[in-house]
Amino acid sequence: MSKDKGTTKPWAGRFAEATAPVVDAFQASVGFDRRLAGYDIRGSMAHARMLRSKGLLGDDELAAIENGLGEIRGEIEAGTFVWDQALEDVHMNIEARLIEKIGDPGGKLHTGRSRNDQVALDFRMYVRDHLDLIRDLVRDLRRAVVYLARDNLTLVMPGYTHLQRAQPILLAHHLLAYEEMLRRDDERLRDCRTRLNVSPLGAGALAGAGFDLDPGMVAAELGFEAAFDNSLDAVSDRDFAVEFLAALALIMVHLSRLGEELVLWSSSEFGFVRLPDTFATGSSLMPQKKNPDVPELVRAKAGRVFGDLTALLTVLKGLPLAYNKDLQEDKEAVFDAVDTTQACLTVLTPMLAALEFDGDRMAAATEDGFLTATDLADYLVEKGVPFREAHEVVGRAVALAVERGCSLGDLDLDALIELSPLVSEEVYEVLKVENSLARRRLPGGTAPVRVLEKLEAAEKRLWPEN
Ligand code: ARG
Repeated sequence: MSKDKGTTKPWAGRFAEATAPVVDAFQASVGFDRRLAGYDIRGSMAHARMLRSKGLLGDDELAAIENGLGEIRGEIEAGTFVWDQALEDVHMNIEARLIEKIGDPGGKLHTGRSRNDQVALDFRMYVRDHLDLIRDLVRDLRRAVVYLARDNLTLVMPGYTHLQRAQPILLAHHLLAYEEMLRRDDERLRDCRTRLNVSPLGAGALAGAGFDLDPGMVAAELGFEAAFDNSLDAVSDRDFAVEFLAALALIMVHLSRLGEELVLWSSSEFGFVRLPDTFATGSSLMPQKKNPDVPELVRAKAGRVFGDLTALLTVLKGLPLAYNKDLQEDKEAVFDAVDTTQACLTVLTPMLAALEFDGDRMAAATEDGFLTATDLADYLVEKGVPFREAHEVVGRAVALAVERGCSLGDLDLDALIELSPLVSEEVYEVLKVENSLARRRLPGGTAPVRVLEKLEAAEKRLWPEN
């Protein structure tokens, strides 16, 4: 039975002629799906043990398969395994090598199994592991964000709308906004994992295996919550990959926003933060330059992951049930998105830890630009002025300050009283940045007491053991 590996495909029986080399090259996936090898071997071992439990393999045959697959794993890890494009994919490469090594028992491994349920199984295991990895990396970044907030707890900065200075906020409040985004990212990944964690093995090519298999046994051994409910869906469902890519795309949205803020904040125009030398680059022409390449690339790489998501959605759209070769296009998109997101998270975390904020620059920016104008309006409202009228009055006060080239707090009391007779001396307290912050004490606001509460809650989430 032992045919020569590399020349004969497992499905060659029906064919009189060999595949054209151009077709082999075109349709082969082994160039990328070899990344699934470890999962393929684990899945095959579980399948073999289940076949043994059902009497479809003998003890000796199971032992030969387990030994053979173990050796193959060693060859792959050592880099000595010879991948053959003519054998299409990781599954057929490993199976052919097993048969080459142990003969007939290797040929029995595929009993009751198709590559369609096999690849769905391997891919789910890959996504599950990398989902867990990304969650760990997201947690590391969250810790860096929260640590940075703790470390800079008293620093004040302008909060922005339309990228125009709007109201004073704490830097820690701004940083903790990223903790909220990343916390939701973690929840999305966790949620995706529950639907992902269903084993498709036993679905066969599409209709369910024709043997009395035990899909639940395989599912349990491989850490799945359940076995499939519908064999057609089991081999054609890639929702888990779409959900995963969507979660990664949203992570990249968040990282790109952080990246953009670091680009802005490290510019001379803002000067809020100093990038560590170890995370910046120079210009080959302009000796003075210190460029924020890392956050720029993070900002740009988001686009790749959006593309990966779009690519997979487009593969799936309108695809008839059940398995179609189109589905082979699922893997590169996911691999690329994982690599990209992993790389961005891995570089941002240590970079954040090394950031140095310039509290004086941020405070100066907060003083300049009438950021407490809303507080003046709120003050008038508390005196009984309807908000719309207060807004108008303060608008005129701002116009006056612009005309005089001073801040609101520099306007003399007479000038302010002329705008509204309800104003008195205490208005100068109202206009102070620290009081503006302190007013915003509703839960989730930027008042220092509230920010500290949220910071402590975040620390409890991220360092539960402390
Ligand atoms: N390499 C294939 C893929 O990634 C494995 C499944 C092939 N199944 C088939 N019937 N040709 O989708």
